[in-house]
Amino acid sequence: MDSKPLSLRLPSETRSWLQRFSRGRATLSGMAARLLEEARRRTLFPGISFADTPKGRRATIEGSNTLVATVWQYQQTTHADAIALTDHFGWALQQSIAAITYASAFPDEIAADAADLPSLALSTHPSNPSSPTDSDSDPAPSIRISHPFSSLIEAAKEARLNAHAPYSRFKVGAALLGKGWKLFKGCNVENLSYGLTVCAERNAIFQALASGVSQFEAIAIVADTRHPISPCGACRQVMAEFGNFRILSATLSGEVFESTVDALLPRSRTGILDLD
Ligand code: THU
Repeated sequence: MDSKPLSLRLPSETRSWLQRFSRGRATLSGMAARLLEEARRRTLFPGISFADTPKGRRATIEGSNTLVATVWQYQQTTHADAIALTDHFGWALQQSIAAITYASAFPDEIAADAADLPSLALSTHPSNPSSPTDSDSDPAPSIRISHPFSSLIEAAKEARLNAHAPYSRFKVGAALLGKGWKLFKGCNVENLSYGLTVCAERNAIFQALASGVSQFEAIAIVADTRHPISPCGACRQVMAEFGNFRILSATLSGEVFESTVDALLPRSRTGILDLD
C-alpha cells in the first residue's frame, strides 16, 4: 500500500499507552498506523473489529471473537448465504453481512488468514470460541449497530463516490448482496446524451449478472438527500426480473427506508407468460 509520512502530537497518556501496546510487536509509529487503519476499517465496515492473535492483529466479528476468516472458510465449504450464516453462528444478520462485506473488500487478506487459521487462535480471549462449531455456545453478542444492513449501506456510500454525474450532480451509490458470499457495487453513470444514463441500482445488478450471480438478498441505495430516495420505475422492473429481495434506501446522514421489490412493484409477474 502506498504510504506518506505524518507527524502528530499525542497526549502523553496516549503515547505511553501506545508504547506499552506496541512493545515487542511493532514500532510505535507502525502500531499507530495499524490502529488508525483499523479505525478506518471499523468505520467503513460497521460490525468488524480487530483482535490480537499469536500472528498479529486480525479482523474479527465485533462482539463475538470470531475471526472473519473463520466465517469465510465456513462459507467456502458450505456455500451458506447470509441468512444461513446467521442461523449457523447464532448471531445477528448484521454480523454475517459485516463479514461478507469485509471479506469482499479484502479477499487476499482473508484468504491468507484462512490458510493460517489453526495458528490464529485469538490470544486475548483464549476461552472464547473461534470456530463455527464452538460458537454455538456463544451467547448472543451485543452489538452497537443501529441498522442490520449498515455494512451494506456503507458499501453503497463508498460506491457513490465513484458516480459519474456531471449533468445532474446527483450522486447515487448502490451495494447489492448476492446469494452466497458476494457483494457488488454500482453508481449512476450519466451521459451527454441524457437518456443513456444508467442508475446505480441497475449498474450493481448488471455487475452481479456479469459475474454469474442472479439471486439477491438485498440492495442498499445511498444518496445525499433529506429523506431516502426511491428506485426509479426502470430499476424496479429490472429488480423484479430477479425475484423479491430487500431494498434499503439510506441518506448520508443515516435515515433508512426499508422495503422490498414486491412492495415497490406489486403484481410485476402476475399473468405474464402464464398463457396455458
Ligand atoms: N439515480 C439513480 O442512480 N438511482 C435512483 O434511484 C434515482 C436516480 C440517478 C440517475 C441520474 O444520474 C441522477 O440520479 C438524477 O436522476
